[in-house]
Amino acid sequence: MNNKFSNLQILDHPLIRQKLYFLRAKDTDSLYFRTLLNEVAAMMVYEVTRNLPVEEREVETPLESTTGYILSRPITLVPILRAGLGMCDGILNLIPSARVGHIGLYRDHDTLKPVQYYLKFPADIADSEIIVIDPMLATGGSAVAAIDLVKEHGGESISFVCLVAAPEGVRVMEKHHPEVPIYTAALDRQLNDLAYILPGLGDAGDRIYGTI
Ligand code: PRP
Ligand code: URA
Repeated sequence: MNNKFSNLQILDHPLIRQKLYFLRAKDTDSLYFRTLLNEVAAMMVYEVTRNLPVEEREVETPLESTTGYILSRPITLVPILRAGLGMCDGILNLIPSARVGHIGLYRDHDTLKPVQYYLKFPADIADSEIIVIDPMLATGGSAVAAIDLVKEHGGESISFVCLVAAPEGVRVMEKHHPEVPIYTAALDRQLNDLAYILPGLGDAGDRIYGTI
C-alpha cells in the first residue's frame, strides 16, 4: 500500500489484515490475542528481512558441490518490554538463531515520556542486523528511546517493526532516526487526548498479558 511516509512500509497482506481485524476486536481474549500477534509477526518478518545481506558458501549436496547462501551477519531482535515480547516468539520461530536483547520501557501516564527500567543486549549487537519490536508506535517516544539505546551500544543496521502505527509516531521517527525503516501492518488515523492510537486496539501490553 502506498503512503506519504518514505520511512514507512505497510505490510497489508490479506492474511495480516484479517488477523489484525481480530486483534482490534475488543472481545478477543488474551490467549487468542497472543496467538494472532505472534502469527502476524512471523508473516511480517519475511518483508522485514528481505534485503538482509547474504554471502556465498560452497555446499556439498548428496550429488555434487554447489553454491548456497547464508546470512552475512547475525540477527538481534530487540523487543521493547512488555508488549514487544508479544511479537518475539513468532519471529524466533522463523529465525531461531537470532539473539534477543531486551529493553524495558514504560510510558509515564502523566508525561507520556518513556521511562527505562531494564536493558540487556548481546555482546556483539554492534555487528548484527537489529530488529526493534513493539506492536504500538504512538507518540514515537518509546521507539526513539529504544533506538537511541541501540545506537549508544554500537548498533548501526536497524529496522523497527510494529503492528499499528500512528502518523504522529512515524513523523517523530522520521525526525530522530530517518534511516531506520518502519514496518507496520496498519497506519491508523491519529492519537487521542491520552495518546492512544485511534482506531487502534487499546493497550497492547494489557491485552497480551490480561492486566486490564
Ligand atoms: C506501549 C507500547 C509502546 C508504547 C508506545 O507500552 O507497547 O512501548 O506504549 O507509545 P509511544 O509511542 O507513545 O511511546 P507501555 O508504555 O504501555 O508499556 P507496556 O508495554 O509495559 O504495557
Ligand atoms: N500504547 C498502547 O499499547 N496502545 C496505544 O494505543 C498507544 C500506546
